[in-house]
Amino acid sequence: MTERLPGQPAPPDWSVAADPQRRVGHAVEAHAEIGSTNDRARELLREPDGDGVAVVAELQTTGRGRRGRPWESPRGVNLMASVGLRPALDSRAASWLGMAAALAVRDACATFAPGSRVAIRWPNDIVTDDGLKVAGVLVETAIEDGRTTDVVIGMGINVNWRRAVMPPDIGARATSLADLNGVGVNRVALLSTLLDRLEGEIGALKAGVSPVDRFRQVSALDGRAVEVAVGDERIAGTAAGIADDGSLLLDAPAGRVALTAGEVVSVRDVAEVPA
Ligand code: BTN
Repeated sequence: MTERLPGQPAPPDWSVAADPQRRVGHAVEAHAEIGSTNDRARELLREPDGDGVAVVAELQTTGRGRRGRPWESPRGVNLMASVGLRPALDSRAASWLGMAAALAVRDACATFAPGSRVAIRWPNDIVTDDGLKVAGVLVETAIEDGRTTDVVIGMGINVNWRRAVMPPDIGARATSLADLNGVGVNRVALLSTLLDRLEGEIGALKAGVSPVDRFRQVSALDGRAVEVAVGDERIAGTAAGIADDGSLLLDAPAGRVALTAGEVVSVRDVAEVPA
C-alpha cells in the first residue's frame, strides 16, 4: 500500500482517482513498491470487490512488457496501473480487448498532450508522430469454456520521465507526456481520465460495439513500410490497414497477409525503402 519508504517523497493521493460510480477504478490500491501491478490485480480478482480495482505503484521491481520484456520505469515519475476484470466477454468482444485498452490509454494520453498527434502502433503501443513510444499496454487473459473470464489490463505511461534522463537505449525510442506538453503532468488526474476512458471502452465491448473503426482513425502505420516480428520470423511489407478482427493487413512481396499477433520492429515511409 502507500507506506512511505525512508527518504522517498510523499506519493500523491491516488485515491482521488477512484470513483464508486464506475466499475473500472471504483477503488484504487496504491503501492510504494510492488513486483508487478498486473500480478496484484490478478490476485484481487479472487477477493470480494476486487473486480475493477485499479492497482498503481510508484515502482515495480518485476514490471513486465509484451513478449516477456521487462518494463522499466524509475520510481515516482510515471503511471503504472493495472485493472483486473471478470467481464465474461464472448470470443469476438474478447479479441477486441487489446485494441479497446489501447484506445483508452491513447485517448487519456492525448488529453494530456494537446497539440501533439498521439497514435497507436498496432497492436497497442502508444506513439508520437515520429514513432517514439509514450505508453504500452499488456493484456493478460484467462479463458474458460470459450469465454474470457479473468482479464488483467496493465498500462504503463511515461509521464514525467524526461527523455533527456532516460537511459540511452530507452530514450532512443521513447518519450513522455511531459516532453510532449512541455510541463509536468498530474499523474492522479491522468489516472482518473484513464479509468474513465477504460470504463467507457469496457462498456462498449460488453454492448458488442467494435473499437476497430476508432482504432483505424488513430493507427500510426497506414501506408508505411513496416517490419513485423512474428515469433522468430520477420515479415516486411506496406501496412494496408486494420481488418475487422483487429489483424494488421500487410502488403508483403508474396501478397496480402493478415497478422493476428506480432511486434512492429521498424516503420519507415515507403519512399525511404530501397527499391
Ligand atoms: C509493452 O508495451 O510492452 C507493455 C507494457 C506494459 C507495462 C505495464 S506497467 C503496469 C503493468 N504492470 C506490469 O508489470 N506491466 C504493465
